[in-house]
Amino acid sequence: MDRETRLRLAVQKSGRLTEPSLDLLTRCGLKLSRGKDQLMGFGENMPLDVLFVRDDDIPDLVQEDVCDLGLVGLNVLEERQLELIARGTAARFEKLRDLDFGRCRLSIAAPNETRFEGAESLRGKRIATTYPYMLDRFLKSMQINAEIVTLSGAVEIAPRLGRADLICDLVSTGSTLQANHLREVLTVAESHAVLIRTPVPLVEFKAAWVERMLLRIDGVERVKESKYIMLHAPRAALPAIRKLLPGSESPTIIPLEGFPERVVVHAVCRENVFWETLENLKQAGASAVLVLPVEKMLA
Ligand code: PRP
Ligand code: ZN
Repeated sequence: MDRETRLRLAVQKSGRLTEPSLDLLTRCGLKLSRGKDQLMGFGENMPLDVLFVRDDDIPDLVQEDVCDLGLVGLNVLEERQLELIARGTAARFEKLRDLDFGRCRLSIAAPNETRFEGAESLRGKRIATTYPYMLDRFLKSMQINAEIVTLSGAVEIAPRLGRADLICDLVSTGSTLQANHLREVLTVAESHAVLIRTPVPLVEFKAAWVERMLLRIDGVERVKESKYIMLHAPRAALPAIRKLLPGSESPTIIPLEGFPERVVVHAVCRENVFWETLENLKQAGASAVLVLPVEKMLA
């Protein structure tokens, strides 16, 4: 088929990572045409197609070279890695980037009404999870003997059904736990989205496109919080003002026509700019302060 000429990227079909993954691709310039319920999205302006799948399937789709690339949670990746090690093999996907979205934790949660006094309280308990390998590694590191109840989903209702005493699941906003009268008691691991690639070498054309995408992804990640600030300031206040500009490199200083003691300052700030910063700038003598979002940046 088109495997020689088109990249295939696996993305979670429906879940926490779907929207931010598609958002990243859009920011990288990809125009995707996708009919409703279609498993495959066609890249109209790039040789890149998106395959929508269950997130748990992404590590294997990539390491078996069904897809060239995958956007997946580190949690899913680590679990699969540990599972493969337990079976005497090794994971073969290659991590290309850690990404700044999909942040969550794999945590142990207990029913609201039960007592919990630290890791010791886990001893001899039944813990339901879809992450048995990560949970096992955690329990061993804490030298705790507990029973791992491996489920394939709906972990949060296991305590109510009497199948487990506690659960170990992903927590992002915490609303799933709350809705099920559970509370987070211990963090097992932190997670975020990552981009992985196939272990199989890519043909030159595809490899070049992967490099191009990586540059774009880096650009997108770089400008996420970035703001472009423009302001007027007394020349004498420049040192103070430069100190106040958050995460900015050397700003551009432009003379202000007709006002020899005043200048215009333009700066790219790598961090979010809060009202407080603007108020402090004003106090330091700045006026006509303008803050603009940065859309693209190429280093
Ligand atoms: C995880 C987890 C919870 C939910 C927690 O599911 O299994 O259901 O997210 O999020 P919250 O704290 O914001 O409520 P995920 O999207 O990873 O899907 P999956 O487990 O079905 O693959
Ligand atoms: Zn999943």
